[in-house]
Amino acid sequence: MQVVVLASRKGGAGKTTLSSHLAVEAERAGAGRVALADTDPQGGLAAWYNVRAAETPLFVDISKGLGAAIEACRAGGVGLLFVDTPPSVTDTIASVIAYADLVVIPVRPSPNDLRAVGGTV
Ligand SMILES: Nc1ncnc2c1ncn2[C@@H]1O[C@H](COP(=O)(O)OP(=O)(O)OP(=O)(O)O)[C@@H](O)[C@H]1O
Ligand SMILES: [Mg+2]
Repeated sequence: MQVVVLASRKGGAGKTTLSSHLAVEAERAGAGRVALADTDPQGGLAAWYNVRAAETPLFVDISKGLGAAIEACRAGGVGLLFVDTPPSVTDTIASVIAYADLVVIPVRPSPNDLRAVGGTV
């Protein structure tokens, strides 16, 4: 299983939007079983999933920790897991990135956003 984490310390960069779009499109493109996890207390990805009629990509419960959720995904045959993260620099992000096979850092093409991206990297 590959774990893809969307991260940026800057708010509004597109983490949540891209998490959902990448997961839906990966499944449509035949990537197998795809899942999503929301580690942002704002819960934007969870809110999106809750108004969505389709039941896939799967939405993962992380109440027992992301590590446990990842193991459950692996055991359940998930091939690709996308993880949304909160903005700003927190310990949460560092611990989530530790599970990542790939970290995607969206950035808007503005001077402020470009100056801030170095901190995320
Ligand atoms: N690729 C894109 N092109 C245009 N607009 C986008 C794109 N991705 C996201 N947006 C818009 O930008 C805004 C912020 O997006 P989003 O909520 O995904 O960012 P975020 O990084 O998750 O924010 P936060 O840090 O607050 O969680 C939304 O209005 C969204 O519709
Ligand atoms: Mg977000």
